[in-house]
Amino acid sequence: MSRPGDAFDAAAHFDEASATRYDRRIRSFCPSYDALHHMTAAWLSRLPERAEFLSAGAGTGAEILALGRRFPLWRFTAVDVSSDMTTACRNRVAAAGMAERVAYFQGRVQEFRSATSFNAASSIFVSHFIAGREEKLAYFRAISSLLKPGGSFLLADLFGDRASSEFGTLLDAWLASYASHGAAAPELEKDRAHIESDIAFVSEGELLELLREAGFGAPIRFYQTFLFGGWMMTKRI
Ligand SMILES: C[S@@+](CC[C@H](N)C(=O)[O-])C[C@H]1O[C@@H](n2cnc3c(N)ncnc32)[C@H](O)[C@@H]1O
Repeated sequence: MSRPGDAFDAAAHFDEASATRYDRRIRSFCPSYDALHHMTAAWLSRLPERAEFLSAGAGTGAEILALGRRFPLWRFTAVDVSSDMTTACRNRVAAAGMAERVAYFQGRVQEFRSATSFNAASSIFVSHFIAGREEKLAYFRAISSLLKPGGSFLLADLFGDRASSEFGTLLDAWLASYASHGAAAPELEKDRAHIESDIAFVSEGELLELLREAGFGAPIRFYQTFLFGGWMMTKRI
């Protein structure tokens, strides 16, 4: 389980420099990043034509852009604790001609309140930064409370039981894949340290239990790339 005392400061980590590099770096980190966002749209294709969508930890707007192009009448709310990531998201959304369809809240998902009940939400590569069982649960509960009963939730995160032999094998393969994108040795060392200290890994069993406690039913794992996993589920009625 993650370490409650270790507070990773997402707002400080995802600063202007990080926001500028993000769209290139994430594709080296996660070689199936675009495929994941493509698959997201497939899972959500049965939503109403005018759905309200919550992007929790919206970052530079990958979910909003992928879904917004595919579903032209959907409206989006982007929630992110980092002002620099929110600015990058606003710029990309405006460049894509979607400015009128997206609302923003800069702050933690746990503090976000809305009069809108959302048809669906995503949280892609966000909650693995939240250390501590109660903190993770509060994050998932916040998303659950913002959804309509029966609403869809798509979660993708780094996951795994650090004590398992599988974990070490997947970590090594992942870092080898990352290195093959041209990362120099010092950058690799820095990123390995970031993974070691900032990612609050939990096993799939622990994650599914947290999601059940937060009010979600029967998550289906539909995606895995090294230690990245993706699950689709609905809020229990
Ligand atoms: C790795 S980025 C992922 C961005 C985007 N979802 C994607 O798929 O590329 C993680 C984002 O989550 C944000 N974040 C982390 N914890 C958060 C929280 N509790 N509430 C809102 N945003 C958070 C960070 O500021 C960062 O922009």
